Amino acid sequence: MIRSASDPGAIADAVAVLVAGGLVGMPTETVYGLAADAGNGEAVARIYAAKGRPRFNPLIAHVADLAAAEHLARFDPLSRRLAEAFWPGPLTLVLSKRPDAPLADLATAGLDTVAIRVPAHPVAHALLDAFGGPLAAPSANRSGHVSPTSAAHVEADLGDRVGIILDAGPTKVGVESTILKVEGERVLLLRAGGLARPAIEAVIGRALVAQTHAESAPVAPGMLASHYAPAAAVRLDVARVAPGEALIAFGERLPPGAEHAAAVVNLSERGDVVEAAARLFAALRELDGAADTIAVAPIPGEGLGEAIRDRLARAAAPRP
Ligand code: TXA
Ligand code: MG
Repeated sequence: MIRSASDPGAIADAVAVLVAGGLVGMPTETVYGLAADAGNGEAVARIYAAKGRPRFNPLIAHVADLAAAEHLARFDPLSRRLAEAFWPGPLTLVLSKRPDAPLADLATAGLDTVAIRVPAHPVAHALLDAFGGPLAAPSANRSGHVSPTSAAHVEADLGDRVGIILDAGPTKVGVESTILKVEGERVLLLRAGGLARPAIEAVIGRALVAQTHAESAPVAPGMLASHYAPAAAVRLDVARVAPGEALIAFGERLPPGAEHAAAVVNLSERGDVVEAAARLFAALRELDGAADTIAVAPIPGEGLGEAIRDRLARAAAPRP
């Protein structure tokens, strides 16, 4: 449902949607975002489900200011200089995540880095201030569609999936934020976007190193080295659990042999892929220390099941 962002009560209603684990169409200066409570795994899972993303790409955490960002990540001096120069604005920084950051594993797709941005939009700020925590928000389009620059675009793509779309008119910048990652002395350009290269290079006094990755570029299973991969071997779609294996279960019935498993985590006893997605990364971490092999019960490939299966297939792929 589209609501004018200037309606009295619109922000409070949007916060109520977020607190209940729902999704909000949030205007920013770049494009409209599909926002959810970044600390709530099931809410974040609903983002992937709504977008129909076949993979768990890490999401950008939106915060009100640099001080809020420092609760989520550690800033090296160059990243801090960039933040001070360009926030609020169309710049996203990939930073080292604090271990105690109040972020669901699914928001960062299990990475130990986090992408953070402080948007320059009064409605985004009103929402962030009223909600009081980080908001995970990818562009508010169905996977494979172009990013939305108006509330009507969001409604057309995701209208039945969002609790409320805050309409603040067309976005000013119209393309997504520029994504940078500082690595030692180098500043990597991960995605070209609304903040232009010359302005950035003037602040950091050096040339950006292009390292763009097309969002749609196929990544071979197991090739995403920075993604959390368990040390244990992973066996998929098991019909029977071997003695001493750890088990990732799904649904109310466990596979034969489960009674001899070294440890069991059920992603969702009620067979709900949204709940399962929210628990996936924690389950991999928990079982990693428990056995040499993690057996995974069959998980249906519909809806979010596709992304869950994709992630597990990567964990099961041979390591380089
Ligand atoms: O302008 C924008 O950035 C918009 C508005 C809503 O803020 N958001 C947006 O989000 O474009 P999304 O999810 O469509 O794009 C986020 C990009 C993805 O390409 C993702 O791979 C990358 O950020 N990303 C997120 N976390 C990352 C990380 N830890 N390391 C590297 N790349 C990351
Ligand atoms: Mg996008």
